[in-house]
Amino acid sequence: MAKNIFATKSVDKLISESESGEHGLKRTLTASNLTLLGVGAIIGAGIFVLTGTAAANAAGPAIVISFLIAGLGCLFAGLCYAEFASMIPIAGSAYTYGYATLGEFIAWIIGWDLILEYLFGAATVAVGWSGNFVSLLKSLGITVPAAIAAAPLAYDGSSFTATGAVINLPAIILILVMTALLVVGIQESARFNNLIVFVKVAIVLLVIGFGFQYVDAANWEPFIPAKEILTDGSTRYGWQGVVAGAAIVFFSYIGFDAVSTAAQEAKNPQRDMPIGMLASLGVCTLLYVLMSLVLTGMVSFKTLNVPDPVLVALQAAGPGLKWLYFLTGVGAVAGLASVVLVMLMGQPRIFFAMSRDGLLPAMFGKVHPRFNTPYVTTVLTGLVAAVVAGIFPIGLLGELVSIGTLLAFVIVCAGIIMLRRTNPELKRPFKTPFVPLVPLLGIAICGYMMLNLGFDTWLRLIVWMAVGIGIYFLYGRKHSKLQKDAAAPPQQKELVS
Ligand code: ALA
Repeated sequence: MAKNIFATKSVDKLISESESGEHGLKRTLTASNLTLLGVGAIIGAGIFVLTGTAAANAAGPAIVISFLIAGLGCLFAGLCYAEFASMIPIAGSAYTYGYATLGEFIAWIIGWDLILEYLFGAATVAVGWSGNFVSLLKSLGITVPAAIAAAPLAYDGSSFTATGAVINLPAIILILVMTALLVVGIQESARFNNLIVFVKVAIVLLVIGFGFQYVDAANWEPFIPAKEILTDGSTRYGWQGVVAGAAIVFFSYIGFDAVSTAAQEAKNPQRDMPIGMLASLGVCTLLYVLMSLVLTGMVSFKTLNVPDPVLVALQAAGPGLKWLYFLTGVGAVAGLASVVLVMLMGQPRIFFAMSRDGLLPAMFGKVHPRFNTPYVTTVLTGLVAAVVAGIFPIGLLGELVSIGTLLAFVIVCAGIIMLRRTNPELKRPFKTPFVPLVPLLGIAICGYMMLNLGFDTWLRLIVWMAVGIGIYFLYGRKHSKLQKDAAAPPQQKELVS
């Protein structure tokens, strides 16, 4: 039986299948829900932690430019996502877009790659949340023993060592609570998300507004410090540092695309998906640029190489901003929790779409009879993410999440160029402007950021993808609905483009 692993599925077929029987989810989300979901997923560990390390170790005050470069790459990719999301408004995000344009095999590769973004992303941010939460409790006089609040394994870039800790229990509990919320309902989850997004954005605005009064412009001089070569041969600062900084802070933008995973639960996806993604991206870019300007203006960037750069800057301002310390801690805890929530929302909807296509077992496609949520994949995602978050250190996970997401962005940009050629007639409620220029720029910027990630990270990506390809040939290809349709006698064949 000849199997065409590059066969695509027509957009009409994808949409009609998604609406049928077991695969129907409940359409309840509005444009503002979607925008807040985007902001919920975006503002988190990136701005609260990475801004400082990226400024100190890579770009200096020009970390502001790094944020703009990474934001521009995301904007170009976001414009491509918006066209796809308005055209194919069903669960699955880039995986589904891949199925419509590049064929089943590439779709599987994207789906497998997205596990790095969502499942591992949730675990990474849960580990960051645990650290912030434990510090917040400590400031209230409650001490959580380190043995149950840290990863049992540390990673030094080449090997694992035991830390003496047993498990990261706060990270596990957070993931399990969020998973339970997601099983109960998308609308309940969105409401909870709205609340925490409000808290975290308010606190970021307070830091920007009040911090601005303590800015000393001398801290921005020189804005791009001269390039330095370190003893280990690596470099920092200069334009090279600015670009390296962009690759680091890219993590802060991850999440706007999570909006697209909820397409099947949006009331008016054709109109609201592009709004949700692009508006959340725009709001966050503005907040990031202002926040990084304020932080590097309040103190010398050299002092920001810490896990809590915002607190360091506030502390330097003296007693005048003391009242903001505790609130900033609350903002970070709230912020990171909503990132975990939205990431844990995205992953099950991708598994759900893969199961609908037969690439994962049918059981994964079950919708809860009462809650109308993809509960099997939600619970599975939560359990795996909890195990990963309970055991692994944050440093090992972070770059892997970034490279996985960047790869998906590159493929989505390429998909837009292809689909314009292969299916120019399709109805596109939102059109990416200036095709092929915008997707090509998206590919160039995201690809360049990928090249700036370490060799180790590339190696892990390659191993991860090799495992995924193995699973496809052992399971997916044999069970794929598209392959079965293609092999069926002609009268039973459905239209497959
Ligand atoms: N953008 C998310 C964060 O910064 C992943 O935590």
